Amino acid sequence: MNNMPRWFNDAIFYQVYPQSFCDGNGDGVGDFVGLISKLDYIKQTGFNALWINPCFDSPFKDAGYDVRNYFKIAPRYGTEEDARKLFEEAHKRGMRVLLDLVPGHTSDKCRWFVQSAKPYRNRYSDRYIWTNSGWARPEGYNWVTGNADRDGTYMLNFFLNQPALNYGFNKINDPSWQISYKDKRVKPTLRAMMKVMRFWLDRGADGFRVDMADSLVKNDPDKSATASLWRKVRRMLDAHYPEAVIVSEWCNAPVAINKARFHGDFLLHHGDKLTDHAFYKRDEAGKSVAYFCKTAHASAHDMLRRYVEELQATRNNGYICVISGNHDVVRLSEFLDESERRLAFVFLLTLPGAPFVYYGDEIGMRYIPQRSKEGGFHRTGSRTPMQWNDELPNCGFSSAPASKLYLDVDRRPDAPCAERQMKDASSLWSLVRELALLRHSRVDLQAESDFAVEECSDDGVLCYRRGERTFVLFNPTDQERESTVLVGKKLFELGSATSNNGATLLAPQTAVIFEK
Ligand code: GLC
Repeated sequence: MNNMPRWFNDAIFYQVYPQSFCDGNGDGVGDFVGLISKLDYIKQTGFNALWINPCFDSPFKDAGYDVRNYFKIAPRYGTEEDARKLFEEAHKRGMRVLLDLVPGHTSDKCRWFVQSAKPYRNRYSDRYIWTNSGWARPEGYNWVTGNADRDGTYMLNFFLNQPALNYGFNKINDPSWQISYKDKRVKPTLRAMMKVMRFWLDRGADGFRVDMADSLVKNDPDKSATASLWRKVRRMLDAHYPEAVIVSEWCNAPVAINKARFHGDFLLHHGDKLTDHAFYKRDEAGKSVAYFCKTAHASAHDMLRRYVEELQATRNNGYICVISGNHDVVRLSEFLDESERRLAFVFLLTLPGAPFVYYGDEIGMRYIPQRSKEGGFHRTGSRTPMQWNDELPNCGFSSAPASKLYLDVDRRPDAPCAERQMKDASSLWSLVRELALLRHSRVDLQAESDFAVEECSDDGVLCYRRGERTFVLFNPTDQERESTVLVGKKLFELGSATSNNGATLLAPQTAVIFEK
């Protein structure tokens, strides 16, 4: 693949929400010292790459997606020294670390914004998108007025405290305040963001997950202008940081990968996508019709159609990154029971591209409804502390009094925990580990190897080939099924697949990986 860092082909990512992973200093909030102490756990589970949610200085109105200072680690997580140590300790273990870059907006407490809001011209006046009257509210965007001395309203990119950085407009309707993305007045914005990237790459980061990567240039319906900015970033990386990787939150792989030249793009749950059909989909009555729901008896046709098209369209250019979940969605365990999730992990870890596992999904952590924190709203329940052991009150997450924890842990007696599952060869954790190690040991199962559907029946049987000789066969239903595919040498088996008069009989909820 063109200019693709080799390590990315065999990367299996673990997403860490740092607030909730491990508290090293006993203040109730996770931090870098805690995370470093758990690198061996992450490695042992089979993951060799990390994505850490935003860790820069922030007022935390959106869990750190509101950056105040891109060059400073949030004190709650530690110092720049701790970040360097994290990169170093990860590298010692053969692991890579992606930070979270938020290029579309900052916090309204960011120095750039504070300057931009001043009622006189200065070098930050055009860093954000302003109208030229405090009364203006042009249609189609969200505006804030009355919050600054500058006579203008400013555009939001997301929440109230996240003003949009100004990368200019593609199509201009009102030249009195809209600036072209080609205008030299907006060029410093991308330059500033590239400076941020270089700063952290120089300190040992291996790349970035890029937040709302498609949101830079406004009124850019085909995203061609936004893509042209990212191509510049990619040229800078190729020239100076050829081992660095950028993965976009775009959810449109042909545009993000082929046009904007991201190394990878997340496939998120936005309607009619692979993971929607695989894990989440419900009918109007609320009943699951997801492929991996055992009673749904769904065919894999709809699940794969767009995915295969996008895979073909992006072949040789970059990876589609499928996730087990993330900090924005309700945990997978709310949608599929454990027997179903076992098969879902076989799927996730045998797909092409780079898989991302959200912390705690490997032990089946649950969604814990609770009071919203830091702009989490319904997402808060998926952001609770990692369940390390079953010692109450904090399950190994922190030594702070329980009342001081960032969020409540799952204290129910049957709550999953890493320690117990690591000792149990039949646990979900052991299964995830086995699959991760199998993927590392076979090039066929890694990012770039071919993906070809061999069988996809109306009653739910699915078989695909990876690479030259590795096959994955599923019957996710609660009934026996027959497959026309003959199973060769088994490398992994869940349920059972037996040959039967020139066909293969699949017990309920079977997944087999084999070689032919
Ligand atoms: C992305 C993040 C989300 C955040 C939003 C605004 O979607 O994943 O958590 O709230 O961007 O930055």
